[in-house]
Amino acid sequence: MKIIIAIDGYSSCGKSTLAKELAEQMHYAYIDTGAMYRAITLYFLRENVSLKHKEEIEAALKNINLHFELNPETRGSEMYLNDENVARNIRDMIVADKVSEVAAIKEVRHFAVEQQQKMGKHKGLVMDGRDIGTVVFPDAELKIFMTADPEIRVKRRFQELYPTNPLITLDEVRHNLEMRDYIDSNREESPLRRAEDARLLDNSEMSREEQLKLALQWVAEAKEMKQSLA
Ligand code: DC
Repeated sequence: MKIIIAIDGYSSCGKSTLAKELAEQMHYAYIDTGAMYRAITLYFLRENVSLKHKEEIEAALKNINLHFELNPETRGSEMYLNDENVARNIRDMIVADKVSEVAAIKEVRHFAVEQQQKMGKHKGLVMDGRDIGTVVFPDAELKIFMTADPEIRVKRRFQELYPTNPLITLDEVRHNLEMRDYIDSNREESPLRRAEDARLLDNSEMSREEQLKLALQWVAEAKEMKQSLA
């Protein structure tokens, strides 16, 4: 019996770490929806798409083809934009600085959500983002809302970015996270919210192993519940 696991939460809470580990353990697909919004942002930046013009945005979206491919070496799923592997480019600060603004656009969200819902048709999926439990899969069997102390999140993101960007500062990372959390939580179109039936996971003081163990326990409970209702 396969279920859908929806993971939402603030930037740099470790959503993708948990989602990847859960997917691996359960032999489920993992979809990082943030990567989709980042790839769209990269395309808009490259093509100088004006975020103020609806027609320009709609025309640009027609030229965007997104898909994930599994990298056999890292066993991670990587984002492709029109058949180009953009897994690295989408992590650049120029993309991070713009992505929340792009992700707040109604047309962009409809474009992304439609594809995400198709991916979940056959269940057996772990998806992370900001609106997965509220908008993309409101009927997901397990919803997890992740959070962590803001300063811990800044340090985690800094450590992640530093190896490829040694000029980056803690202040820059802090400013970017604060700005993204604010825009993501306050936008009109599907803002970041904890679904009423989402389990809260604050991992400020938890190790990766501890959070995985807790999530797997929730998975077992969600499956049991589904079985009892069948
Ligand atoms: O998870 P991330 O940091 O890669 O996400 C990048 C941005 O995309 C984030 O600022 C908010 C947006 N996003 C969103 O609005 N909805 C999603 N389902 C996933 C990401």
